[in-house]
Amino acid sequence: MPGASGVDTTAGREGDKMRTRMGLLVAAALMAGSCAEEAPAGPPFRTDTSVRMLMANMVDPAADLLWDAVGTVIDETGETRWEPETEEDWLQVRLGAMAIAETANLLMMDGRARDQEQWIEMSQGMADAAMLAFAAAEAEDAEEIFDLGETVYNSCNACHGVYWIDDADRGRAVTPEP
Ligand code: HEC
Repeated sequence: MPGASGVDTTAGREGDKMRTRMGLLVAAALMAGSCAEEAPAGPPFRTDTSVRMLMANMVDPAADLLWDAVGTVIDETGETRWEPETEEDWLQVRLGAMAIAETANLLMMDGRARDQEQWIEMSQGMADAAMLAFAAAEAEDAEEIFDLGETVYNSCNACHGVYWIDDADRGRAVTPEP
């Protein structure tokens, strides 16, 4: 006999169906969402500049700003020592250190990274060394810049020893390409 409870039951069943449909919709929306997350996202970075071009035109000139900043030459006329003096000189050292550190990020980008382990570690090693040099440049500590020049040099060599191989011309003087 149809009564209030019967109507309630029907309404309840309709409600269940509704909830089920809603549930499916929510699930579909979630799946669509997770698919969208898997698609490549982020800014349209360009990586058509090769590792080699970055090395020749950015990393190497930047390292020279660091390595040439402090030095000593001893010859028959005696000892000549130089270090950054003006604010302009120090800015060049900071520029060099900062450019090396940031190039590490460029080297780690998809399309440039040769693998996801050692390459990444070595890029980070270079960035760490460069940021130490940056701090020394901020402190205008010439002695420290000289010492850290070697630390940076070692970070370059560590990677070259593993990835810059099978190149007969390795070690040649670099002529920057456009
Ligand atoms: C994460 C790895 C890595 C680090 C760190 C690295 N390099 Fe390189 N470098 C390479 C590779 C790889 C090549 C060879 C080019 C190639 O195979 O694409 C290269 C080549 C070069 C070249 C030759 C470019 C040419 O014209 O052929 C120079 C110069 C150079 N690197 C300088 C440096 C200096 C200076 C540093 C440190 C301040 C440094 N690199 C740090 C990976 C690295």
